[in-house]
Amino acid sequence: MSAERQVGRVPAFVKRLAPKRLLEPLFRLEARIAARWVASAHRRQMLVQWGLDPQPEFFDHHIDLYYQWRHSRAPVWLERGVFGALALKGGRVLELACGDGFNALNFYGCRSREVVACDFDAEAIRIARRRNRADNISYVLADIRTDLPEGRFENIVWDGAIEHFTPEEIDTILAGIRSRLAPGGILSGYTIVERGDGEKSLSHHEYEFKSKQDLMRFLEPHFAHVTVFETIYEHRHNLYFWASDAAVPFDEKWQAALRGGQRREDAVASAA
Ligand SMILES: C[S@@+](CC[C@H](N)C(=O)[O-])C[C@H]1O[C@@H](n2cnc3c(N)ncnc32)[C@H](O)[C@@H]1O
Repeated sequence: MSAERQVGRVPAFVKRLAPKRLLEPLFRLEARIAARWVASAHRRQMLVQWGLDPQPEFFDHHIDLYYQWRHSRAPVWLERGVFGALALKGGRVLELACGDGFNALNFYGCRSREVVACDFDAEAIRIARRRNRADNISYVLADIRTDLPEGRFENIVWDGAIEHFTPEEIDTILAGIRSRLAPGGILSGYTIVERGDGEKSLSHHEYEFKSKQDLMRFLEPHFAHVTVFETIYEHRHNLYFWASDAAVPFDEKWQAALRGGQRREDAVASAA
């Protein structure tokens, strides 16, 4: 994409104002000052939001974007959107427990016909509707234990939230998810492994998973194909999952990938 298509044409009066060698450092300075101020404002927001009771049940991802990413140097907050987006089929998406709607807007909505994103926290839905709205995204207030949105969906996303439910609730919700998935549809999601010291990562968590195998035992009874994989950071052990009755990303039959290496293996075998 050309720079002009991305940011628009430089207005004529700006061109007349001063040459580029003066304008560019001026705007770079403005951007640097603004970035520092935005980062410090989000640090203060995080301090109050998470340092004083009661703690919220969802995270405002603008804190990640404007402050925490730079501070932690860890891209973990982007992984769920990236790995979830690998499973997208371009049709209807149901996002369960969507929080502030950051992922619905920035990962799922741009490659799907429609996203229905729900959460039972009225404040999360209010923020999502105000900050992360788009024509093809609707934010719905719903408790997924009793009020899972109806319909057929090519993708269902359950990010950072399966651990907010008891094992019995997880099993019931998974049955509801399965019945709403269109043929070939994929459930994707993310959760966190329980900490080694026995402390919960968040007081709202009902069940923290112990390992890949522990998460797999919940998903396998409901789906023919399940992949669970992990990423490990210094202070965080993450689990991701794709589950479907058809191929999931990186399966042999996953259409988005082409595998090489077979000819080389054949050549090695025939030379031996
Ligand atoms: C840690 S946040 C994750 C939000 C978002 N998916 C993300 O990845 O940033 C967990 C979310 O689960 C929501 N939640 C918890 N129990 C729920 C329920 N019974 N029905 C719907 N949403 C629920 C909370 O309100 C919260 O927004």
